[in-house]
Amino acid sequence: MADIEISAGATGYRFQVSRSGRLRQMAFGDGIAAPRRDDHEQGLPFAYPTYGEDLRRAPALRVTHHDGVTTTRLVLDDHERRAADGGEEHRLRLVDRDEPLEVVLAFRTWADDDVVEQWVEVTNRQAGPVTVHEAAAATPCFSAASGDGDGDAAGPWLHHFGGGWAAEWGTVEERLTYGTKVLDSTGGVQPHLLRSPFFLLSPAGRSTEDGGTVVAGALAWGGNVRLAFEVSAHRLLRVWCGANPHAADYVLDPGATLVTPRMIWAWSSAGRGPLTRRVHRWVRRHAVRDGGRLRPIVVNNWEATFFAFDQAKLLALMDRTRAVGGELFLLDDGWFGTDHPRDDDTAGLGDWQVDRRKLPDGLEALTRGAAERGLRFGLWVEPEMVNPLSTLYERYPDRVVAQPGRERRLGRHQLVLDTCRPEVRAFVADAVARLLDENPGISYVKWDANRAVSEPGTPALPADRQSNFWIDHALATWELMATVAASHPEVELMLCASGGGRVDLGSLRWFHEVWLSDNTDPVTRVRMQWAAGHFLPAVAVAAHATRMGGRPLPFACAVAMSARFGFDLDLTGLRPDELAVCRRAVAGYRAVRDLVQLGDLWRLVSPFPEGDAAAGAGGGERAALAYVGPDARRAVVFAYQLEDGAPAAVPLAGLDPTLTYTARPIDLTTDEAPLALTASGAELLRDGLPWATAERETAGVWLLGSPA
Ligand code: GLA
Repeated sequence: MADIEISAGATGYRFQVSRSGRLRQMAFGDGIAAPRRDDHEQGLPFAYPTYGEDLRRAPALRVTHHDGVTTTRLVLDDHERRAADGGEEHRLRLVDRDEPLEVVLAFRTWADDDVVEQWVEVTNRQAGPVTVHEAAAATPCFSAASGDGDGDAAGPWLHHFGGGWAAEWGTVEERLTYGTKVLDSTGGVQPHLLRSPFFLLSPAGRSTEDGGTVVAGALAWGGNVRLAFEVSAHRLLRVWCGANPHAADYVLDPGATLVTPRMIWAWSSAGRGPLTRRVHRWVRRHAVRDGGRLRPIVVNNWEATFFAFDQAKLLALMDRTRAVGGELFLLDDGWFGTDHPRDDDTAGLGDWQVDRRKLPDGLEALTRGAAERGLRFGLWVEPEMVNPLSTLYERYPDRVVAQPGRERRLGRHQLVLDTCRPEVRAFVADAVARLLDENPGISYVKWDANRAVSEPGTPALPADRQSNFWIDHALATWELMATVAASHPEVELMLCASGGGRVDLGSLRWFHEVWLSDNTDPVTRVRMQWAAGHFLPAVAVAAHATRMGGRPLPFACAVAMSARFGFDLDLTGLRPDELAVCRRAVAGYRAVRDLVQLGDLWRLVSPFPEGDAAAGAGGGERAALAYVGPDARRAVVFAYQLEDGAPAAVPLAGLDPTLTYTARPIDLTTDEAPLALTASGAELLRDGLPWATAERETAGVWLLGSPA
């Protein structure tokens, strides 16, 4: 058989098929059209190595067959290739001829966006069940050209993200050395609090914004993930990406198929900037729901009131929302619970009836109040959870994830409903659907999930299959999300899980945006948004100006304005000058919203100084970024001073040197018309934008336009 080429413009694979049908990886990345044999001294690596074949390295697939045989040997049986919208689909069917097992390596290319999606389907063709101990979604290999230590910048370099609650998207950039670096998450419900399932890998040395080879990887999975980077002898770097196999042996019945999550790849040989812009385009088109649609300016009451509000307070907040120009009022946690009112996080989850003590006229009065003020209305729910102090739990104490005889340990005073059971899924979907049916004024829902799974058990699975839980539970949750999204397709959904606990490109299929973190301190947010922005376009990243960190309001607003803008502070408690800041921020955001949400991102000054990012802490004293519109005729530039420093121009990129631009500051501190500057694109690219301020916690925002 000839080599197999799977190509999506700048990204792709080339496989070699040996005479005996063994499938090996020849190349991954760019230049696929020209046959290339990567420099693997010990011959080409297997495309999908199985346990028993190469015991020196971790396998992609390990199965115990029905007869007890623990090894697997795959040969290529068939290659199906067909055209698909904007690309192709390939299915490489491998089989084990002795232990009947079918393994399809599936690929979906998106040539217009230079993106490859990849996943694996394992089908049991044996007379009885088999156990899949681990099955990677993808295991590409790279030649780790200088993995044995040729100086600091030499490759391979890994850039990864994680940290935990209120510390999501902590950034680490490090050089990989011999051994295996494992990045993983557990807990099932908010796994991405620990570990964002995204990474950048520069196989041949550290990349920069506009130079070097770099691959972006994203695992589209809402459950536990495992990303492992193994640099072994002979300078081979193998990357293992998939659902975390830890405690997750999957028992597969005869005829059944296990489908791994999808891994998404994009590649650049010209640095991270072009890579990000490519990934963003693809995410907007194919990963996030309605990715080309502009998002509203949201005012959320959470950090304004927490659980302490009533109807009058909410209506007063809506008045202020209208006064500053907000577009959607989002009522957060605390509006429900009758016998067990939700005055704090100890009670009420599961009882989705309005608390008439706080809201005597029900949600109806609020949706009407919003409509009268020209606002949309959104509502918070946490549908997969239950407090033991709830009517739901009193009636159905057995509907939670638990193991027989074990204590049901609480997290945030709550338990996880067992959505592996169809009747529980139906109950949850129905609870949300009923709220939306009874309150047609709700056009936005914030879906939260605030604890991880402990005692992972479900009667939906027989005793010998309890370890199927982690995969089945993640899939059941997706099924639930799909049902809710389909039942009210016009309602916009925000995905939140104690902050950024569910930020992945798979779950976004049903959601319009994510809540990145409960940490809304704008200094931290500059860095978090910077990190997440390597993968997530701003249209999908909710960012609200708050009081956290005690920073000046114009600075907090300017930081939130660089993503999907909103507020989460008590607008009724603001001084007139602060209200004026909010009003200016809303007006400014309206002028740049299309650029921020749909434009091309250019990172200009990193909030992580080179070198320090390896420590994963601290950062640079400034940051700047720009979003550039079609044909580079308009752009918005954001610059942030994080620490006191020396004044310096803001460097620019992404402009057309042949155009003439007028750069108008959007000054949130004054109503006076700012002085505009007119210059050619070439001059701006050379000199940058003058920015005299160097005081910490100040920001500059400029709208650049060139007449058509
Ligand atoms: C989580 C969310 C917050 C807020 C609270 C409400 O922590 O991340 O944004 O909704 O729950 O309890």
